[in-house]
Amino acid sequence: MQYLQGWTKPEFDVLEEAVLVAKHRLHETGMFTDDALAELIDRHPDDYLTIAAMGNDENKFEWMTGKRDGASGKEMIQALRTGKIWVNLICLARYHPEYAKILNSLYDELEKNAPRFQAKYRSANLLISSPNAIVYYHIDLPVNMLWHIRGEKRVWVYPHFDNRFASQRNIERAILGEMSEDMPYQKWFEDYALEFHVKPGQMMTWPQHSPHRVTNLDTMCVSLSTEHRNQRAKRRVNVHLANHYLKKHFGLKDLSIRPQGWNACAKEAYARAVQVVNKLLTAKKMEPYSYRKRFVVDPNAELGYRMLDGEDATDFKQEEAILANV
Ligand SMILES: [Fe+2]
Repeated sequence: MQYLQGWTKPEFDVLEEAVLVAKHRLHETGMFTDDALAELIDRHPDDYLTIAAMGNDENKFEWMTGKRDGASGKEMIQALRTGKIWVNLICLARYHPEYAKILNSLYDELEKNAPRFQAKYRSANLLISSPNAIVYYHIDLPVNMLWHIRGEKRVWVYPHFDNRFASQRNIERAILGEMSEDMPYQKWFEDYALEFHVKPGQMMTWPQHSPHRVTNLDTMCVSLSTEHRNQRAKRRVNVHLANHYLKKHFGLKDLSIRPQGWNACAKEAYARAVQVVNKLLTAKKMEPYSYRKRFVVDPNAELGYRMLDGEDATDFKQEEAILANV
């Protein structure tokens, strides 16, 4: 089955270069019904399931993560339908071959039609989220694409490669695992936002590291978020990493983030060398930052979860401190 629908040549040509909204047919496959999702959750390893809850104000970062605590797939779907949570099945394709086929088919179609586009190391995360759920302002480190399947949501996208909206310092901290991909947000960013009302059968993508945020309308939402790497995407991350080490070790300033040219190649080699040395010295790998677990899923609770003992649902001081880098 071909999943892309009605793409024009200019749309293929702007992949990874610009903000793009185009059509797909994943919502017609029958592979994302409530029953299919419940079964997928039951078969998915707990360590690769992120469960989060959030506040009501898009301007105030109130994101917390929680535990499944034995909830079945059906109970999770109930909590998603009636509560206010967000669930991410990470590495979907690694554990569910029938979804790996979809992932590969999507990227094969893109590669076939866009000669300059390359998607190596493909992966997919399945996002299932409650009515009115919010995903706060953030970047994604890999290049990613959002294939929207069920429900309706609003997505705001902000200028890419612009220090005002995601600072180089914070992108470096996210790569180093010192903070998550959530970025500090200010209301005036809205003056620069592109706003989209996304419906089933639409996909969205943008240049790597473009800041964005999402708010569901009054419907449960299901989207497949696919990620890929290629030489340029990897080099962009390595250039940020090299810039961090060059500033830290040699006090250099005003470094370029461009992934093209001999300068970027040299930075990539330098970043890799430093990582090898760091790994030898500390025997530690750079891990993505993760928030502490503060609640457990409870399909009978009003919001679909209950706080763990000693956790205060209104306290986000730790998260605010990380975002503010204090
Ligand atoms: Fe994202």
